[in-house]
Amino acid sequence: MTVKWVKKQKNVFWPSKELKQRAWISDKAIYKKAAKNPIAFWARLAEEGISWYKKWKKTYVEKLPYFKWFVGGKLNACYNAVDRHITTWRRNKAAIIWEPEVGEKNRVLTYYDLYREVNKLSNALNSLGVKKGDVVGIYLPLIPEAQISMLACARIGAIHNVVFSAFSPEALRYRLKETEAKVLITCDGYYRRGEIINLKKQADEGLKDTKIEKVVVVKRAGNEINWINGRDFWWHELTKNAESYCKPEIMDSEDILFILFTSGTTGFPKGILHSTGGYLIQAYWTAKWDFDLHDEDIHWCTSDLGWITGHTYVCYGPLLNGATMLIYEGAPDFPQPDRWCEIIEKYGVTVFYTAPTAIRMFLKFDSRLVKKHDLSSLRILATVGEPINKEAWLWYFNEVGQARCPIIDTWWQTETGGTLINALPGIGPFIPTVAGRSFPGTRHEVLDEEGNVLPPGKEGNLVQLSPFAPGMLRGIYKDPEKYFEIYWKKYGNKYFTSDGAWKDKQGNFRLTGRVDDVMKVAGHRIATAELEDVITRHRAVAECAVVAMPHDIKGEVPVAFVILKEKQSEGLEKELIKEVEKNIGPIARPSKVIFVEDLPKTRSSKIIRRILKNLLIDQPVGDITTLANPESVERIKAILKK
Ligand code: PRX
Repeated sequence: MTVKWVKKQKNVFWPSKELKQRAWISDKAIYKKAAKNPIAFWARLAEEGISWYKKWKKTYVEKLPYFKWFVGGKLNACYNAVDRHITTWRRNKAAIIWEPEVGEKNRVLTYYDLYREVNKLSNALNSLGVKKGDVVGIYLPLIPEAQISMLACARIGAIHNVVFSAFSPEALRYRLKETEAKVLITCDGYYRRGEIINLKKQADEGLKDTKIEKVVVVKRAGNEINWINGRDFWWHELTKNAESYCKPEIMDSEDILFILFTSGTTGFPKGILHSTGGYLIQAYWTAKWDFDLHDEDIHWCTSDLGWITGHTYVCYGPLLNGATMLIYEGAPDFPQPDRWCEIIEKYGVTVFYTAPTAIRMFLKFDSRLVKKHDLSSLRILATVGEPINKEAWLWYFNEVGQARCPIIDTWWQTETGGTLINALPGIGPFIPTVAGRSFPGTRHEVLDEEGNVLPPGKEGNLVQLSPFAPGMLRGIYKDPEKYFEIYWKKYGNKYFTSDGAWKDKQGNFRLTGRVDDVMKVAGHRIATAELEDVITRHRAVAECAVVAMPHDIKGEVPVAFVILKEKQSEGLEKELIKEVEKNIGPIARPSKVIFVEDLPKTRSSKIIRRILKNLLIDQPVGDITTLANPESVERIKAILKK
């Protein structure tokens, strides 16, 4: 497809005629129409996009801090993602194409294959005693069994809690304990950079002191594992003789579909709750419109299923649309840096959705590596998870997309369930570092600390206005106080995103990063408090403060300032880093541990992390006269200089 960009200003791209012609949405009047009556707008989308067993009585009910969508409506998520397609020509259409890291044959699951597998696992889970409303833990690498597990849970009305396979056993234990899951689905091992990771060993460790009674184990890598008869069950044995049909449970629109833990400002991750009806509707329509998803597309979102991006765009969104999606188990640059390009070329990927960190990583390599491959199948390029810098945006646009594909920079959060702010392919504009407009039927504003709406160009806090998008969280698992405190306390009737932003006169938002103590490390969300909690538990540590330092590729990396109880012993930095890996996982590893004697504090003993951050990046620290210990600043400066 040739694209003639309509350019009115430098680096502001508007869709070509071809893009507009193909797009599901190309008339910007949709924004106005939706805004006139957002509730009616979503009701129409709910009717068109999803099959209901019973229609809802009330479209939207709001009693803040809670709200409900499609009240009284009955449906099943798995039925919508799988069963609907097997009565159409899509029965033998590829649903999931799985690419292994090296050496093995790929796997292709058609919708009919997926249907069979999901039904069998649903019955197997039933036979293990899983019932509607129970929580099932899923600790799997990126293999089709992960999606099958999620869908089987949805089919029988169980709530899935996916735990990223690179999270540590401690992180798994925390989640299993919180949710009181009785069944865990995991595998023997998986490949990462050519090595087998023994996931079962990690799972065995993580489920100690939890309520897990049964473990379903996928045979993936064939490595040796420990086995406890009566507790552990091979997936293939359980499903071999299982009945081939399991009737989908009739679920209420507001029944919880899944819990997904994410980092907040406290030391422990919180369980975000997502509903069935509202979530699915946002997943369906955002997948369709943002990526302009058509039947002939090959959709590749590189996220792991352990993140919200994986839930919505590597499982529910594309499957609800009957799309074909690709998943790749391995590392992006293994065995060589152009592995992802090779995969795009091999399968003719048309929609590619990844994080700015990955783009920056590729940008670092020789552009010839990209040019070596035929990437002409690409139609839509998209990003998520962190702000994208102009250089990365332009490189993605020019080198990967060969200036043919729009860049869809999608802003959203674990809490929002689906994308909320981005340009639509047939409408635009596509501007480096600018995400775009609120998705039709939703509204966002930028406010100052007092809650006044800020004019275009002024930076402030991003909020969402009522009616809240259908896919928004329905609470924090077992913690209504936190739910209120984090999202609603600050602005009352507006959802506080904890992100900074400003908007232009046309209503396009530019996101400027988190305004709380949450970091985005390679697009992964990590709270400084989580790291501090782990580090201060070490016997040698008296106090610790973690701050995010800008990083060329990862966006941000954690740096820990530590006060010791005793003299520094050799190897302590490594030991502390190891503790973080053990308790959270390698993604949270501090890039540096700096030992100091004092930390800048207010008179009420609050550590001022802003000062530490400014010292790290060599910026002025501002007024320090109100500190209890202003002399600490010079001392830290001297240590950093060294
Ligand atoms: O700070 C924003 C950033 O990621 C945060 C949400 O992280 P998480 O819950 O892990 O979900 C990430 C995937 C949806 C947001 O509060 N963020 C996400 N997308 C963007 C972004 N920042 C700037 N631009 C984006 N496109």
